[in-house]
Amino acid sequence: MPKPDITTIAIVSQKGGSGKTTLAVNLATRAAAAKHESCVVDTDPQATAAAWSDWRGDFLPVVVTAPPARLARTIESAEKNGVDFVVIDTPPHADAAAREAIKAADLVLIPTKPRAFDLAALEPIADLVNYAKTPAFVVLNGVPSGATKLAEHARKAAKEIGLNVCPVELGERADFHRSSAKGETASELAPDGKAAQEIDSLWKWLNKTLKKAGK
Ligand SMILES: Nc1ncnc2c1ncn2[C@@H]1O[C@H](COP(=O)(O)OP(=O)(O)O)[C@@H](O)[C@H]1O
Ligand SMILES: [Mg+2]
Repeated sequence: MPKPDITTIAIVSQKGGSGKTTLAVNLATRAAAAKHESCVVDTDPQATAAAWSDWRGDFLPVVVTAPPARLARTIESAEKNGVDFVVIDTPPHADAAAREAIKAADLVLIPTKPRAFDLAALEPIADLVNYAKTPAFVVLNGVPSGATKLAEHARKAAKEIGLNVCPVELGERADFHRSSAKGETASELAPDGKAAQEIDSLWKWLNKTLKKAGK
C-alpha cells in the first residue's frame, strides 16, 4: 500500500532495453537535485542500476538492491532512514517483480520504445495496473527525431489498451547512453542538452500529477 510520507514511483515494462534503468537513475538523481532524499530500489537480478551506482561512487542517489519479496520491507527501512522519494527499477519479463513494484507504488511509469513490438508488450502491464488501480503512464522513450507519426501511432495504441500517456517524451539521445556508461545522468553530462530538458519536464509533470493524485 502507498505510504503517506514517502513517494514511490515504479518503473515497469515487459521488454528489456525499453529504458527502465535509464529512467530510474535519471529521475532519482533529478529528485536528489530537488533536495529530496531519493533512493533507487533495484529489483532486477542483473542489478544494472546498482552497477551504475558503483561506477558513480559516493554521489546521490543511494541505490539498494532488493528481491521482489523484500521490496515492501526495503521501502519501509528506507523511509526510516529519511528517504522520501523512491524509484523502483524492475527486471523485464518478471510478473512477480512488476506486480510487487506496482503494488508498492503511488504512480507507475512504463517506458516504451514507439515500435509495434514494444506496444504488444504493454498489454500484460495494462492488466496489472488496472488490477492494482495504481495510476500509470506510458512514457515514450528513445523517440527518433522527426518520428512524429511513429510517436502518434504509439500514443494511440497505448490509449486503446486503456493506458494513460505521459505528455513528456524522451528522444533517442546519446546523452542518456553516454552518461549511464559513466555512472552519471544526462543532466550532469550535458546540463543544457535536450535530454536534460526532457528529464526536467518529466520531473515537473510528475510533481503536478502526484499532487493531483493527492500526494
Ligand atoms: N532515450 C534514450 N536514448 C538513447 N539511448 C537510450 C535511451 N534510453 C535508454 N537508452 C540506452 O538503451 C539501453 C537500454 O536502456 P536501459 O535503461 O538499460 O533499459 P532497461 O532497463 O529497460 O533494460 C542502454 O544502453 C541505454 O543507455
Ligand atoms: Mg534495466
